[in-house]
Amino acid sequence: MTSDAGVQHYSCMTDGPRFPELRRPTAGRQPALILRPWRAADIPALAAEMSLEYPTAGMWSRPDERPVRTELPGGTQRRTGLADERDAARWLASQARGWRDGDRLSFAVLEADDARGCVLAGNVGLKNRVETGRIGERATAEIGYWTAVAARGRGIAPAAVRAVTDWVFDAFAGDSLRQIMLVHDIDNPASCRVAEKARYPFLELSPANPPHWFTDGHIHLRLRG
Ligand SMILES: CC(C)(COP(=O)(O)OP(=O)(O)OC[C@H]1O[C@@H](n2cnc3c(N)ncnc32)[C@H](O)[C@@H]1OP(=O)(O)O)[C@@H](O)C(=O)NCCC(=O)NCCS
Repeated sequence: MTSDAGVQHYSCMTDGPRFPELRRPTAGRQPALILRPWRAADIPALAAEMSLEYPTAGMWSRPDERPVRTELPGGTQRRTGLADERDAARWLASQARGWRDGDRLSFAVLEADDARGCVLAGNVGLKNRVETGRIGERATAEIGYWTAVAARGRGIAPAAVRAVTDWVFDAFAGDSLRQIMLVHDIDNPASCRVAEKARYPFLELSPANPPHWFTDGHIHLRLRG
């Protein structure tokens, strides 16, 4: 692994034919991308990324897998971000369980740099919106994403969301999956742009519903086909 200006380069190795590997060529400012399930090799880069910015709570497969560190006066617990490699490893284990059980399918998004290996550029994950069960068994899945802080503004999230959307409709073509939701906070216009560019049309407003979510949001919906 090499590192310059905080950006870590490491092997682009994937898991072989057992798991999907999606590739997107360079397009304008968007670099060439490789998407594949998260691997242990990603842990140092993931931990470094998470120390910059706390990711959305939706990254975690189950509430009991979220890192809860601090007890506030009154007994409420405050989540803090992934702070070190141990937390990154826990998150990876949670994603591995998701692939094993089929209810959460998360891809590391890697910027392919042939000369020096790969750079972690983000994450795209599919989960069930409300129901339990394997992705594909239900009519609706939900897609979520983030882009590494240093990689933002180059169209990586829209390209990665398009790649995973095409893959999941193809991979579960004979199953019940009919539509994918994309939900973002109303005060996240960058995410709204991702939805538009990834061809997820706006469907409706999603009012705040504490304690599940605290702000109004947008629901975008992409139908199969
Ligand atoms: C939202 C997010 C995923 C966008 O990813 P991205 O790969 O930067 O996507 P794009 O390059 O297409 O940029 C989308 C918008 O971000 C804004 N943007 C542009 N450059 C930016 C930069 N350097 N830094 C932050 N935002 C930038 C612009 O509004 C852009 O829209 P535009 O293309 O109309 O100008 C990314 O900002 C992020 O990870 N945010 C934190 C996590 C999050 O909000 N996830 C979504 C939860 S629903």
